[in-house]
Amino acid sequence: MSFISVILSAGMGTRMKSRVPKVLHEVCGKPLTRWVIEASKNAGADEIVTVIGHKGETVREALDGLTEFAVQSEQLGTGHAVMQAGEYIKKCAGFVVILNGDAPLITAKTIENAVRYHADSGNSATVITAVLEDSTGYGRIVRDADGNVLKIVEQKDADAEELLIKEINSGMYVFGADKLAYALEKITPNNAQGEYYLTDTLAILLENGNKIGAYTLEDNDEIRGINDRLQLSEAEKIMRKRINNRHMLGGVTMRDPDNTYIEDTVEIDPDVIIEANVSLSGNTKICGGAVIGSGSKIINSRIGSGTEVMSSVITDSTVGENSHIGPFAYIRPGSEVGGNVKVGDFVELKNAVIGSGTKISHLTYIGDSDVGENVNFGCGCVTVNYDGKKKYRTVVEDNAFIGCNTNLVSPVTVRKNAYIAAGSTITDEVPENSLAVARSRQVVKTDWKDKR
Ligand code: UD1
Ligand code: CA
Repeated sequence: MSFISVILSAGMGTRMKSRVPKVLHEVCGKPLTRWVIEASKNAGADEIVTVIGHKGETVREALDGLTEFAVQSEQLGTGHAVMQAGEYIKKCAGFVVILNGDAPLITAKTIENAVRYHADSGNSATVITAVLEDSTGYGRIVRDADGNVLKIVEQKDADAEELLIKEINSGMYVFGADKLAYALEKITPNNAQGEYYLTDTLAILLENGNKIGAYTLEDNDEIRGINDRLQLSEAEKIMRKRINNRHMLGGVTMRDPDNTYIEDTVEIDPDVIIEANVSLSGNTKICGGAVIGSGSKIINSRIGSGTEVMSSVITDSTVGENSHIGPFAYIRPGSEVGGNVKVGDFVELKNAVIGSGTKISHLTYIGDSDVGENVNFGCGCVTVNYDGKKKYRTVVEDNAFIGCNTNLVSPVTVRKNAYIAAGSTITDEVPENSLAVARSRQVVKTDWKDKR
């Protein structure tokens, strides 16, 4: 079944009260329209055309490469919006699926099912509908006594009887491409809003001897459109649940899925345990047996098998197997932490390679550094990597022992098996197997108190 998707995303979104175009607001880390684009793609669309208008260039930039674009420079209604994709509709030999860029909960499965239903029933147009307790604001589906769809009436154009109808237009449709092109030429803005209504195409097709029908959804959540921040948060909650359910059914334990925030892009192996209030985003992968403790935030990072992360923040970095991170560690971009490493409380790493078996247990900053295996950092060590103009690298080779409160003034190298005495400020290379003491000797002045 060959079809293209046309996604309407030109509207203003006034009620969002935002400088950001509505369709770029995010649900679980992805812009609203991107969800719709991906659902179309996963359903097998041959081509995806997004109609942009309000702040169109910003939308185009954000969605570049994911979709074709058609520009609607004036928002004269949904029918007018679809007309802007005319060149794509005219060259389409199959079906056209119309979707809304502000309704991100539509699934690939529903699109597939609707297209199949449309094809099987021989309709020229199929509107995707839902039955709602409260149909306020939506176009109503008007059927005849036999249940055949006659037309769609907008709330503002409806009479008292039509207003009572609970079956509503989701704003999503499947059309035969040629039938859509034909009907679009016939719609007029003669209605309460002075707009070109896409909905009018149905009655036009029916009048001209075509068959129209409806595909009614079971899950009303799928049609939820987003107009304000309240609806945005509701959609996020539903999407979050979908994502978390997928992971739990895939073998991930979540202590509190209602308060676990995982973006769609994140990969999690079975037997990972995720505690409450964890946020995992971007290109993140959590390997089997890892435990992600409460309050952790992990962005674009890979966490190895068996590693435990407690209340820590990790960005654009990797951590190997069976390591312990936190509590309250901050691993900043460009860090590569090996296996069996301990990065303890109040330790900050930035752009640092940390070899396997190394321990950095407390209150330490390591930036722009290459640290070998089985190195031990005492409490309170600092790499002094910035002279106010440039950053320099620090190298610490395998098995070195860095005493408490050491400053490593980079560029500087500590060779294998070297020891550094506590409180040292190291400015020169420390050779293999040596001990460096770089602090002034203690002076004791006896009975000083009485003489002062
Ligand atoms: C439309 C339907 C209504 C349906 C409702 C579902 C029409 C006439 N009415 O109503 O039956 O129940 O959707 O949500 O189609 N858009 C453009 N350009 C425009 C106008 C709209 O791109 O000129 C886009 C909007 O950005 C949005 C979508 O089309 O993504 C729907 O527009 P909206 O104004 O929300 O439609 P309604 O008038 O509420
Ligand atoms: Ca409108």
